[in-house]
Amino acid sequence: MTRAILLTGGAGFIGSNFVHMLAEQRPDWLCVNLDALTYAGNMQNLAMVEGSTQHRFIHGDICKTEDVERALDACGDLPISVVHMAAESHVDRSIISGLPFVQTNVLGTQVLLDACRARGIERFVHVSTDEVYGSLGSEGFFTEDTPLAPNSPYSASKAASDMLVRAAFHTHGFPVLTTRCSNNYGPWQFPEKLVPLMLANAREDKPLPVYGDGMQVRDWLYVEDHCEAILAVLERGELGEVYNIGGHNEYPNIEIVKTILAAMGKPESLITYVTDRPGHDRRYAIDASKIDATLGWRPRWTFEQALPATIEWYASQVEWLQGLRTGAYRDYYAQQYGSDSEG
Ligand code: NAD
Ligand code: DAU
Repeated sequence: MTRAILLTGGAGFIGSNFVHMLAEQRPDWLCVNLDALTYAGNMQNLAMVEGSTQHRFIHGDICKTEDVERALDACGDLPISVVHMAAESHVDRSIISGLPFVQTNVLGTQVLLDACRARGIERFVHVSTDEVYGSLGSEGFFTEDTPLAPNSPYSASKAASDMLVRAAFHTHGFPVLTTRCSNNYGPWQFPEKLVPLMLANAREDKPLPVYGDGMQVRDWLYVEDHCEAILAVLERGELGEVYNIGGHNEYPNIEIVKTILAAMGKPESLITYVTDRPGHDRRYAIDASKIDATLGWRPRWTFEQALPATIEWYASQVEWLQGLRTGAYRDYYAQQYGSDSEG
């Protein structure tokens, strides 16, 4: 092994896709995966790397210094870089209760920064979100210079973490880079988010809940493209910089839902308009020209290729999806690893 990546949140949606990408594209890197296995973490997402010497799982919480130190120890003598993805990530949950978001996204990020600074690491990539910029009207795009104006407890906690990361760079010269990406879709996404929820409900002929008028616009990016962008920032980004990531791929929610129904041969009568999300951001759209011009990253997948591929993937993973819907996925870790904290 030539270097170690301490990945936080690697049992979640984007994290597990990142683990798979590293296994394929950087087989000489050790991936130490620190994850608390909240409701969003699922060891089944990592079944493909079970037993691999290239992947080491540490069951722990980024809010606890001792857990972060245990993960750093697992990197051995290798040079360490950090990719920080662990977060409470779902806007609707943050509306019900903001505290877990402040705990993990704000406090946890500071604990991680401090422990990593004390250890001495090479680079720290903070995976943030375009939601920190707030909401757009029908014109314009978020650039890296757009002022932060978060609107939900989730995005406010992410914006706070961005500020802590920025402060670590300016105060301590800590080697950080920040990414802000638009909405992802693809394999292993928890079925509380729009695309997998609609796929799961449509499969069972259940109502598809569309918030408000369904005309909110998101800029959709296939998760593999996001993972490759993070890798580009990790390897070639300039320290202290922020990089927007997006696909110039804007669709209103209702169009996504209708496309899914059509692809699955299900009727539009399943669509049910429900009460809007409080404070619902109207439109996100990313200007990703900086990462394109400076690091040569641009999406490889088109929406026309990736959405059908995603629909097909979920159709082939009925058992995985059912496990998430019933909660059975929570037993997997204990069954595979007993009560041990490493696997
Ligand atoms: P996710 O909710 O699927 O996964 C989060 C992971 O973090 C889970 O495995 C969970 O167990 C773990 N975790 C939560 N709290 C933890 C803690 N205290 N200590 C250790 N692990 C903990 O999230 P995701 O959709 O994969 O998002 C990953 C990151 O990317 C987040 O930081 C999110 O803000 C950001 N992001 C997501 C999207 C998107 O569309 N999903 C877009 C842009 C940015
Ligand atoms: O933009 C990046 C962000 O994208 C990430 O930072 C977040 O972690 C991620 O959850 C996502 O946030 P959104 O709130 O945009 O994603 P969500 O899938 O929850 O919703 C997408 C859109 O669909 C949003 O306008 C709300 C709407 N929606 C969502 C659900 C779950 C519905 O209309 N019905 C639903 O049931």
